[in-house]
Amino acid sequence: MAADKAKKKHEHDKRHRINKEIAVLGTGNMGTSLLLGIIKAGLTPARKITGCDINKEKLRSLAKEWHVRTSTSLRDAVGGAEIVLLCVKPMTVPKVLKEIKTVVRDNHLVISIAAGVRIAFLQETIGRKIGIIRTMPNIASTVDEGATAIAYGEHVSEVQKRDAEAIFNAVGDVVTVAEEQLDAVTGLSGSGPAYIYMVIEALIDGGVKMGLARDVATRLAVQTVLGSAKLVKSSGLHPAILRDQVTTPGGTAINAIHELESHGLRSMLINAVATATRRSEELSKVLSQT
Ligand SMILES: NC(=O)c1ccc[n+]([C@@H]2O[C@H](COP(=O)([O-])OP(=O)(O)OC[C@H]3O[C@@H](n4cnc5c(N)ncnc54)[C@H](OP(=O)(O)O)[C@@H]3O)[C@@H](O)[C@H]2O)c1
Repeated sequence: MAADKAKKKHEHDKRHRINKEIAVLGTGNMGTSLLLGIIKAGLTPARKITGCDINKEKLRSLAKEWHVRTSTSLRDAVGGAEIVLLCVKPMTVPKVLKEIKTVVRDNHLVISIAAGVRIAFLQETIGRKIGIIRTMPNIASTVDEGATAIAYGEHVSEVQKRDAEAIFNAVGDVVTVAEEQLDAVTGLSGSGPAYIYMVIEALIDGGVKMGLARDVATRLAVQTVLGSAKLVKSSGLHPAILRDQVTTPGGTAINAIHELESHGLRSMLINAVATATRRSEELSKVLSQT
């Protein structure tokens, strides 16, 4: 059921075309992944996208490979666009906003991916009642398997919401949350890839300890994590049911589960998300005071 719903939504979004001028401010890891996602999903033609960065080399290779327009001028990029994707580091956001505020128009939509930078701060610094969307994507957007949470500012129109959802759907899955929940999102999916990398690393070492060659253990561990996640997503079943299905009475899995439980694996992961959430709240407060 859940899988059907997700598939229908994905197909619906696939039909959605933005076809507007888009400026991507900061063409680093995340900015580039979103820019490429937009092009590959055919949301807007490449000629309507402007990549803006201080790094000319990055811009040159983007223009050469993907035929987008490029600019080192934030004001030119924003002035010619309707949708602005703010993809610079959080500490750079105030400087960038101050530079672009005089070219921002009422019909602009600003989508920020900067961690911890609140909508109220963006709105106040820009000084206009425009559509502002704050998001928390994750690094898996670079392989079109990202997990993004979106929070809407109060002046965002329905069309702008659909445009934003289509952009992040092009690089993975999207959920909508209240802005207050973005710290928890940062603790779960924003920081989550780091936890899963540790799990993969440990599984590889487990295989190596038991005599497997490292490359063999790596392939098996990676595919196990990938396949397990895919099965949870496509079946729509609760992970505990899937776990029960692979746990034979008196078998290998139940013995391993007992070992994991006795070391508190689940408590550890719950605490990791809670700790990262609290750290995100602290960083957010610091950024609001800059
Ligand atoms: N990476 C993640 O996993 C992740 C996850 C969720 C959210 N985010 C958010 O995504 C944002 C970007 O992260 P990232 O990892 O993509 O960083 P990044 O790779 O460092 O990209 C930022 C880009 O902005 C450029 N830049 C710096 N100052 C600029 C200016 N004044 N005008 C235009 N461009 C400028 C940088 O150039 P230089 O490199 O030459 O300085 C760099 O190319 C951050 O706000 C972060 O909080 C990241």
